[in-house]
Amino acid sequence: MVSLPLSSALLWTTLFLTSKVTAVELDLNSFESLENATSLVAYGLMDYYTGDQYGKTVGMFSDPYYWWEAGGAWGCILDYWYYMDNDTYNDKFMAAMMHQTGDNDDYIPLNQSTTEGNDDQAFWGIAAMTAAERNFTNPPEDSPQWLYLAQAVFNTMALRWDADTCGGGLRWQIFVWNSGYDYKNSVSNGALFHLAARLARYTGNSSYTDWAEKVYDWMWDVNVISHGDYMFVYDGVSVNNCSAVTPYQWTYNQGLLLAGCAYLYNSTGNDTWHQRTLKLLNSSSVFFNNSILYEAACQPRDTCNTDQRSFKAYFSRFLGVTAQLVPESRNQIMHWINASAVGAAQSCSGGTDGHTCGTNWFYDGWDGKYGLGEQMAALEILVNTRALDKPAPYTAQDGGSSQGDGAAGTEAHATNLNPLNITAGSRAAAGIITAVIGISIVACALWLVF
Ligand SMILES: *[C@@H]1O[C@H](CO)[C@@H](O)[C@H](O)[C@H]1NC(C)=O
Ligand SMILES: *[C@@H]1O[C@H](CO)[C@@H](O)[C@H](O)[C@H]1NC(C)=O
Ligand SMILES: *[C@@H]1O[C@H](CO)[C@@H](O)[C@H](O)[C@H]1NC(C)=O
Ligand SMILES: *[C@@H]1O[C@H](CO)[C@@H](O)[C@H](O)[C@H]1NC(C)=O
Ligand SMILES: *[C@@H]1O[C@H](CO)[C@@H](O)[C@H](O)[C@H]1NC(C)=O
Ligand SMILES: *[C@@H]1O[C@H](CO)[C@@H](O)[C@H](O)[C@H]1NC(C)=O
Ligand SMILES: *[C@@H]1O[C@H](CO)[C@@H](O)[C@H](O)[C@H]1NC(C)=O
Ligand SMILES: *[C@@H]1O[C@H](CO)[C@@H](O)[C@H](O)[C@H]1NC(C)=O
Ligand SMILES: *[C@@H]1O[C@H](CO)[C@@H](O)[C@H](O)[C@H]1NC(C)=O
Ligand SMILES: *[C@@H]1O[C@H](CO)[C@@H](O)[C@H](O)[C@H]1NC(C)=O
Ligand SMILES: *[C@@H]1O[C@H](CO)[C@@H](O)[C@H](O)[C@H]1NC(C)=O
Repeated sequence: MVSLPLSSALLWTTLFLTSKVTAVELDLNSFESLENATSLVAYGLMDYYTGDQYGKTVGMFSDPYYWWEAGGAWGCILDYWYYMDNDTYNDKFMAAMMHQTGDNDDYIPLNQSTTEGNDDQAFWGIAAMTAAERNFTNPPEDSPQWLYLAQAVFNTMALRWDADTCGGGLRWQIFVWNSGYDYKNSVSNGALFHLAARLARYTGNSSYTDWAEKVYDWMWDVNVISHGDYMFVYDGVSVNNCSAVTPYQWTYNQGLLLAGCAYLYNSTGNDTWHQRTLKLLNSSSVFFNNSILYEAACQPRDTCNTDQRSFKAYFSRFLGVTAQLVPESRNQIMHWINASAVGAAQSCSGGTDGHTCGTNWFYDGWDGKYGLGEQMAALEILVNTRALDKPAPYTAQDGGSSQGDGAAGTEAHATNLNPLNITAGSRAAAGIITAVIGISIVACALWLVF
């Protein structure tokens, strides 16, 4: 059960007056205070989980939360376990991550396959990668392992690299029939870069470093990474005009690049990645107001959609890991995280439970917004106040026990959904499907009219 709609004012008032209201309180100097605060926020996050209910799908959250955001949310639950030593939801995490792997163990489950984008796949891959780096309990032997899953996501994404337009890059969508197939967005490419950087550090295999460099260079060349005094990450480019950069800046894109550079610097010691990390970090100041994090492209105008309301969660996560990996970034990052965590905690004072989190962390109290994204973002910023109290991501050399395979995802049982296999015939079929849907819509409209 989630917060009641505000419209049921009478019921609302009754509940408000009769139930004991406990806002989230936070004293950054007390671990117990942080435990109390995060357990309320995590519980609120899991209020949106429906996978345990009869007839619902394991791993999925309630409507309107898409499959990709579920992958993001499981990453938050993993961080909750890691930073707060609370394993309440570990079994649910394992079940969800295993149920959604898909037949090819690459996070393209059949139910999602027709609508899935590269970015959607990546967020589940990132959760699997994190499980490997945190040495989370390994899946049963007959199941795909964390590292394997992350490699399969990386490999299948890398196979979709499209040199035919804009000199490279990944398209947003996997399939030609989805709108967005003609767009090369930063979250898909940034996530490929980010996964490559993490696999490079975990495995020590320089092929991943080469891939990371290739993706980064392409993003730089098409100007989705800005070239001036600041390094901003813009939304993407159209394949119909590779000079047409969509200029929106989202926290999660800045974070994917920032943390990716941090991993590369940490594992190679290469000064180029060091300088890029620091410049991306400095440029992240556009997302802070008095050191409190906000989604600058939509939050001030109150236009953040369901997806966008979760972006601060990933950015908070990536800030924390950057602080772990790059010592020079620590003061700035922990200053931002501390201030934002205090703001987020005081926003978690809404709803009938009295601790539903809001969107705007510098609003005095709860701003009336609620949702899975709000719970995820608040949970991530809170747990990341502990970034420097926990070990940096493990590697295969120093603590990680997950097993993988460099060829994961490309082996025999690879689904024939790989767009590289899309033939003229299936393109025509896609055209027919689109036409049929179009005709059906017209038919329905006519039926309604008459
Ligand atoms: C944490 O919650 C427990 C149980 O509600 C309470 O007794 C304790 O005082 C709280 N601690 C802090 C620091 O708020
Ligand atoms: C662990 O998390 C659960 C769910 O959020 C919470 O009920 C429990 O109190 C937490 N335990 C501690 C020690 O914080
Ligand atoms: C696919 O959808 C069906 C029907 O909703 C469900 O039973 C099944 O668990 C889903 N599979 C996955 C992998 O989500
Ligand atoms: C491509 O986009 C750029 C930047 O928006 C614009 O200046 C140019 O006119 C566009 N070219 C075409 C052919 O539309
Ligand atoms: C450091 O990384 C940059 C960017 O990938 C690369 O061009 C350069 O050759 C690297 N330097 C060394 C010494 O490996
Ligand atoms: C970023 O760099 C500029 C120029 O060096 C400096 O003035 C500014 O204080 C820096 N901002 C942050 C947040 O580090
Ligand atoms: C920054 O926060 C203050 C309140 O602390 C608010 O008045 C101001 O409008 C905020 N700025 C933006 C850009 O949201
Ligand atoms: C990489 O991260 C570890 C763990 O925080 C740290 O000890 C080490 O100094 C970092 N390496 C570099 C090159 O900064
Ligand atoms: C963040 O808060 C913690 C706990 O109060 C404190 O130890 C740390 O010094 C703070 N860091 C910064 C940079 O403000
Ligand atoms: C990682 O997990 C393995 C298997 O459970 C265990 O043997 C190993 O000690 C763990 N490593 C760390 C650093 O905890
Ligand atoms: C390194 O990674 C590449 C790309 O995934 C793979 O083809 C190769 O087999 C890996 N090499 C080793 C030694 O694992």
